[in-house]
Amino acid sequence: MSLKSKSRTKTAFVCTACGTAHSKWQGQCKGCGEWNSLVEERLPTRSASATAGASAAEVQRLGDVATASTAGYQSGIDEFDRVLGGQLVPGMTVLLAGDPGIGKSTLLLQAAAAFAEKALAVLYVSGEESPAQLRLRAERLAVGDRAIDVLGTTDLNEITGAFARKSYNLILVDSIQTVAAAQFDSPPGTVGQVREAAHQLAALAKMSGAALVLVGHVTKDGMVAGPKVLEHLVDTVLTFEGDQSLRYRILRASKNRFGSISEIGLFEMTGQGLLAVDNPSALFLSETESSRTGAAVCCLCEGSRPLLVEVQALVTPANYGNPQRVAGGLDNRKLALILAILEKRGGYPMGTHDVFVSIAGGLRVTEPAFDLPTMVAIVSSLTNRPIDARTVLIGEVTLAGELRPVTQLDLRLAEAGRLGFSRAIISNSTGSVPPGISVHAVGSLAEAIEIALD
Ligand code: TYD
Ligand code: MG
Repeated sequence: MSLKSKSRTKTAFVCTACGTAHSKWQGQCKGCGEWNSLVEERLPTRSASATAGASAAEVQRLGDVATASTAGYQSGIDEFDRVLGGQLVPGMTVLLAGDPGIGKSTLLLQAAAAFAEKALAVLYVSGEESPAQLRLRAERLAVGDRAIDVLGTTDLNEITGAFARKSYNLILVDSIQTVAAAQFDSPPGTVGQVREAAHQLAALAKMSGAALVLVGHVTKDGMVAGPKVLEHLVDTVLTFEGDQSLRYRILRASKNRFGSISEIGLFEMTGQGLLAVDNPSALFLSETESSRTGAAVCCLCEGSRPLLVEVQALVTPANYGNPQRVAGGLDNRKLALILAILEKRGGYPMGTHDVFVSIAGGLRVTEPAFDLPTMVAIVSSLTNRPIDARTVLIGEVTLAGELRPVTQLDLRLAEAGRLGFSRAIISNSTGSVPPGISVHAVGSLAEAIEIALD
């Protein structure tokens, strides 16, 4: 009997990074290419409740479908609401992912307090910290007296029980990787447990109309399932990122069924928790006012939010063998491309020089508008010609060394003008020029370099 049931238990080797199942163990996941991420897991059998509880769905005309009231919940923390797409929609499931220690629990508790302030019924399920630790954190954030229900458990059945006993507007689970259901005998944190728990909670949220926020740690050791295995199960994925050694944090949506994914929220980690950053551009600019070689300022546009960012380059003669290329905050291949364009189209001897490029404040940049300032900073360092500190450069550079227009130029110029920049070198002509800023619309890289460098 025992032999028989044993042979029937199905197992698979599941990737903890992306959730792809393999029938045999192998060193590399065929789904995401990660090494040593496969662990053997028992496949969850369909739970009895899931099959028995399924009611027959009826076919109806799209026009007859009753729409749930779209009134959602706003926390009043602008940086948070904006990234969510304006509000938390009843029934939606949000995954808040980020490295351990980045501030997910802090953000969640602050949001919980803000929602409780608006008389919403909030349940905070804490599987990582005890309720006493949560209380201490709340005291530190000066929200210890808010009407938040706290449940210290890692048992999925206790959480669903709490759902059933009281109707909540908002349920926060910190973190989904600690939650496990007793009916599956795989340990907490495995792909099967994490998926099943998230699946059940999301279904309950949808049925009850509560908004659900799940915290998911980004994991590196490969033993605990990462947030990636949940992405398809949730409506919105928010990632909280930032350099641990720096104080600012960026909240981004990488998937959002209810809003745009281009918005970002900026926070600063302080002794009293996370504070919204009012003047974000100031974070990513250095303090100096004088002209320097190798430093150029760009205006990025993240969603509807313009952001001034400084790029620094250091170019030195290469002494040994292969020249070094080190990029911080920029893709290495992007840097290689930029150097190839400078070599071929600009005639600059990049092949005999080491090049180091870094973005102030530790930001990661992928926007094409950043091409021009990066190239001008590199040429400035190579040729020892300074760039005026009050000049902002915005433009995408093609492989042919021509400049291409960028989007949302008006917003970018307005932000540069607001922060006291007096000159903009850009790739397209513009209708509205903010007062106090002189605009040079140029067509080629060579032209931009001539105007930018003294
Ligand atoms: P936390 O929210 O616990 O991170 P996560 O849940 O993502 O693992 O925050 C961790 C860090 O934030 C921790 O190193 C301490 C710091 N912190 C502050 O600087 N100020 C504060 O008010 C709080 C609550 C935490
Ligand atoms: Mg935490």
